[in-house]
Amino acid sequence: MSFKYYQGKKVFITGGSAGIGKGIAIELAKAGASVMICARGKSKLEAAVKELKAVGAPGAIFDYAVLDVSDKKQVLATAKKVLKSLGGLDILICNSGYAQAGEASDLQDEAFRKLMDVNFFGHLNVALAFQKHFATQGKGDIIFLASTLAVFSIYGYGAYSASKFAISGFAQAFRQEMMLHNVKVKLFLPPTTDTPGLEKENEDKPPISKEIEMGSSLNKVHSVGSVAKALLKWIPNNKFFGYTGWDSWLQYALFRHFPELTLKIADSELRAAQSRLNKKNGSISK
Ligand SMILES: NC(=O)c1ccc[n+]([C@@H]2O[C@H](COP(=O)([O-])OP(=O)(O)OC[C@H]3O[C@@H](n4cnc5c(N)ncnc54)[C@H](OP(=O)(O)O)[C@@H]3O)[C@@H](O)[C@H]2O)c1
Repeated sequence: MSFKYYQGKKVFITGGSAGIGKGIAIELAKAGASVMICARGKSKLEAAVKELKAVGAPGAIFDYAVLDVSDKKQVLATAKKVLKSLGGLDILICNSGYAQAGEASDLQDEAFRKLMDVNFFGHLNVALAFQKHFATQGKGDIIFLASTLAVFSIYGYGAYSASKFAISGFAQAFRQEMMLHNVKVKLFLPPTTDTPGLEKENEDKPPISKEIEMGSSLNKVHSVGSVAKALLKWIPNNKFFGYTGWDSWLQYALFRHFPELTLKIADSELRAAQSRLNKKNGSISK
């Protein structure tokens, strides 16, 4: 796949040291872009920058910043560093984030707040830190990564979905504000993707949520490479929502056009999952 759009472009990716963010960084480097990444852990950032240099174009810039996106002060200082290191910015990709599954009654307030701090305020802090730059420049792309769980949600994902619905709502309003500056704001809905983040999420997922996923014909685990390539293909087009593959598109389209039917399908998947779990546990299904 050729991604000419990215040749010579300057890109900043939050959470670029692992998972989907790193996959995007690698594809962009291969396509001839200069890429700066950030995350909290320095050693993974250094290792990722080495990988980018190995596949990137000669003369392209690859750099990193240690940053916690939920810290607004740190974000403002890093934004200055990014603009200086790259000599400008064409594309901002707000990717950092994580999932914590759990029944609402089992999660502490802290879990809800932390998800909002990183998944919502993290994206907000970074977008606002570069808002003036993009508005003055009068062009560019600002990309928010949310999730397919940013348009509908299921058992065990209340806290996570709340943070992703929040960024989806913000992105829609921000899209119009930046449109008047000729800057595109877009929302990508990654599907379930094989990343270190997913591995961590699976550790404390409620058994019934796992069972729902196993029984769902729409829940396919995607590779980082396929998600990153889908995102690069989508950025230059004029569609606000971005997906990976027909399964993500179908989940979005079903809920968008047939919300009550989708809820009914989700409920029957939940009941089937509960019954399978009951059988596995040797108890009688109600
Ligand atoms: N994987 C999936 O199945 C899936 C599905 C739907 C949506 N998504 C979304 O896609 C994005 C990437 O997910 P992923 O699975 O690739 O995650 P991942 O494998 O855990 O990687 C997350 C990246 O973000 C960084 N990060 C985490 N918290 C941060 C913070 N507070 N400040 C700065 N950087 C931070 C991590 O580095 P440090 O830990 O060193 O900071 C790492 O570089 C997230 O927004 C996630 O919600 C993922």
